[in-house]
Amino acid sequence: MQLFPRTARINARNHLEIGGCDVVDLAREFGTPLYIFDETHLRARANEIRDAFCSRWQNSLVLYATKAYYSPYIARIFKDAGLGIDVTSEGELEIARRVGLDPDKIYLHGNNKTPAEIRAALTQGVTHIVIDNLDEIELVAHIADELRVTVRVLLRLAPAIDPHTHRHLATGIAESKFGLPIHTGAALDAARRITHHSSRLTLVGLHAHIGSQIFDVQPYRDTIAALFDFAAELRAAVGVELQELDLGGGWGVPYTETQNELPIEQVAEAIVSSFKLQVSKLQPETSNLKLIFEPGRALIASSAVALYTVGAVKEIRNVKTYVSVDGGMGDNIRPALYGATYTARVANKMNDAPTQRVAIAGRYCEQGDVLIHAVDLPRVERGDLIAIPVAGAYQLPMASNYNLIPRPAVIAVRDGRARVVRRRETIEDLLQCDVDE
Ligand SMILES: Cc1ncc(COP(=O)(O)O)c(C=O)c1O
Repeated sequence: MQLFPRTARINARNHLEIGGCDVVDLAREFGTPLYIFDETHLRARANEIRDAFCSRWQNSLVLYATKAYYSPYIARIFKDAGLGIDVTSEGELEIARRVGLDPDKIYLHGNNKTPAEIRAALTQGVTHIVIDNLDEIELVAHIADELRVTVRVLLRLAPAIDPHTHRHLATGIAESKFGLPIHTGAALDAARRITHHSSRLTLVGLHAHIGSQIFDVQPYRDTIAALFDFAAELRAAVGVELQELDLGGGWGVPYTETQNELPIEQVAEAIVSSFKLQVSKLQPETSNLKLIFEPGRALIASSAVALYTVGAVKEIRNVKTYVSVDGGMGDNIRPALYGATYTARVANKMNDAPTQRVAIAGRYCEQGDVLIHAVDLPRVERGDLIAIPVAGAYQLPMASNYNLIPRPAVIAVRDGRARVVRRRETIEDLLQCDVDE
């Protein structure tokens, strides 16, 4: 059951089963499109990632990058695992507040934080803000002054490292809209400005997130070296000692059988060994440095499966067969946005041999709404169920109501039980913000 969550299996009815639940029964009970989270998988993955780092460097903190998909359900699971979070909006902050997440484990990010977001975070007791640009230093200092609080700040750096991923996912390169370049002097300038506000802002660390879907550890080693070089410069120029180093997230996960996983143990070993080497070079005082990671996708993507019902099947003879499903770019924009690839299985015909190559088309009014351009499947007909694995990250949080179509329900399955963790939207939900007088 490659790519499917760990409790997935094929049952005696030739159906896909997850968390002890037959997905054909789930489709009947909850409807489709349906997002199914395997809770056992989700909890195990959080523990594995946390332990991979904490066992190698005790003062490690794993923050979940909530942009990958956040909801009260997910927030509680990751809170139980002892993870903190990286947030970029008041909405994400509000979920953290509702589940009672320790504000000391919340890091506020964003390349254009609004005054309202900064105020909300500081009012909530959030202690860490990651500074993205020169402009926001005054803004954060001003709000901290107004609220009479002190803030621990990290500088987000753009270390000019190419992570060899899709252009839209490369965020640490020199031309990135995120972070402060080191080579132009902007990063050092930011550090100096922060020290002018020392009664409110304390510069405690450096941050870099070089991109997403990275399958090679070398860009991380290069990032660590670049950050430590800059830390030495900081100490010499501004007298700031590093207390925290945040390496962002970005570890790739396979979406199709042809992609190879980058095992978490390998990532942790490569990163922590490079980090220890740099620590020993920089100074013994840094030996209790806090090492932070912010994976999003690697924590959540593989825990969910998207389930769709087949509608029209259109064969364009000698060209292509389209299998149309009841979801598409409204719940998964990634294929249309940056050519993301996926695979699929027919959930009610799991052991049937593939007989044809088809495209899985979405139901939305865009030619680009094709979830999968080519996948080998058994004969498919109206009413069959299509299961697409690795559906947990950057799908639901980017979902839209294009064509005025409600967004899917989300359920969690475990030990043979299923429960709704987000109900399906209704047309009524979609119209409730419209004012018609
Ligand atoms: C600052 C920051 N940290 C962490 C992440 C998580 O990335 P990923 O989901 O690829 O691990 C992102 C993603 O965009 C990010 O912008």
